[in-house]
Amino acid sequence: MLRVGRLIKDSPVRWAAAYKVTKGAFVGTTRQRFNEEFLGKTIPIPTPRREGTNIRVLSIGSGSGEADSVILRKIMQSQTSVYSRVVEPSGEMLQDFKAMVQQDTSLGAVKFNWRQQTAEEYFSDYDGTKFDLAHAVRVLYHVEDHHAALRNMWEQLADGGYLFVLLLSDKRGVGKLHHEMWKWFPHENDRLQTSLRTSSDVTRSLESMGISYVIAEDEHDVNLAECYKEDSETGRLLLDFLTQTSNVYEYPKMRSAVLEYCLRNSSLVDDKIVFKVRTAAIIARKNEKNM
Ligand SMILES: C[S@@+](CC[C@H](N)C(=O)[O-])C[C@H]1O[C@@H](n2cnc3c(N)ncnc32)[C@H](O)[C@@H]1O
Repeated sequence: MLRVGRLIKDSPVRWAAAYKVTKGAFVGTTRQRFNEEFLGKTIPIPTPRREGTNIRVLSIGSGSGEADSVILRKIMQSQTSVYSRVVEPSGEMLQDFKAMVQQDTSLGAVKFNWRQQTAEEYFSDYDGTKFDLAHAVRVLYHVEDHHAALRNMWEQLADGGYLFVLLLSDKRGVGKLHHEMWKWFPHENDRLQTSLRTSSDVTRSLESMGISYVIAEDEHDVNLAECYKEDSETGRLLLDFLTQTSNVYEYPKMRSAVLEYCLRNSSLVDDKIVFKVRTAAIIARKNEKNM
């Protein structure tokens, strides 16, 4: 049965393979360079709550730490003492993150607190620690309830602390495709029960909680040419990640609708089919005006 937008729930193993392939499909930049430039530009740098105290960072869904390392290095440029609580359900991703930390001397001064848990498990067992920065980078698609995750992250912020969320913008590219797909293939459930969540879902949640925010957007390109090759497993994985749906190849109606849409909205450069990924960074600060 076609289950639109539920790839990570239906097949975490296929999701992980598709995620790797998609990271390799960047055009004109690498994922790490995009992280360094966009995160480096938008991540707010917190200041210590009191003179001499450390900066506390909460990371929800760190993966193998590519985004976290950029954020932490940026903070370390102006702060000497950082505590980072890392919440990530995948043991394999956490292992990769820990291996990276061991090799990267620039993160040597960060005190890590590793939690192999889902966000839901972590929030249900909260110890009262307050954070100066709580971030969720490309993660709110996968938590059970993005609104509850935002509320919980907000509650865990100290006064003056920052909330930082990065996810797909719905203005164009992949995020817009997700909204289109939901119109073509609506399902029994609400879209918000799937991974097809975008920036306006987050801003709507913040507005409903009376939290004001700023937003910044940027784009990078991915090459979808493999998706148009009949027998390419790489193309099938890429198509699954693009749609967050398992085995799209086996559903000709959906496959052709998505491929036609992407082709119409791509540019052809040499042998590449270049499609946009537009990303939004949403930042809110907790202070007297914004509680
Ligand atoms: C697209 S990756 C992003 C990783 C990292 N933040 C980055 O941008 O490089 C999404 C991550 O969310 C994690 N994840 C999935 N479900 C989750 C949940 N319920 N709570 C917390 N993290 C979750 C996955 O294991 C994965 O590492």
